[in-house]
Amino acid sequence: MLEVINELREEHRAILCLIEKNDILAVIKYVEEIHHPKEEKLLFPKLAGHPLLNQGGPRCMYFRGLELDLQIYDGAKKVLKDFYQNKGPRPHAYGTFHWLKDNNPLNIPMEEHRLGHELSQAIQFLYTHPSSDLYKDFLVPLEQEYVRLLKLHIEKEDTCLFILAERILQ
Ligand SMILES: [Fe+2]
Ligand SMILES: [Fe+2]
Repeated sequence: MLEVINELREEHRAILCLIEKNDILAVIKYVEEIHHPKEEKLLFPKLAGHPLLNQGGPRCMYFRGLELDLQIYDGAKKVLKDFYQNKGPRPHAYGTFHWLKDNNPLNIPMEEHRLGHELSQAIQFLYTHPSSDLYKDFLVPLEQEYVRLLKLHIEKEDTCLFILAERILQ
């Protein structure tokens, strides 16, 4: 299991490199087709039913505080809401997972996967409609929110979830 977690950590570094190069479509392809499916298939199902999952890892409360006090994802949700109100296409639903039950702590990272997926669909749509008003108005804010979300999500997994996973799944 530790090899899988190491691989996922390396993939985080690869995603951050692609973000540095400002290649958002490559980021989306890597995250949506490789990285998140791998977490959802190889790591999260193993953690989902573990009795120690609720304890969290170091810095979990720091990130929880950010979410609750600063409502860090409100910006992304607001941009998406405006995008749909301006006739941007609605997203496809994210997958469902038999291992993900209500009140499981993994709903927190999975909510971020869902929100990232939604943002990525809007961004991909805009790249196929470069002369639209939507492109002009929404590409920059959507990309900014997507990158912000991914960076926080990666930092949270690296410093909370994966550390906990390394301890309880050895
Ligand atoms: Fe993730
Ligand atoms: Fe990740």
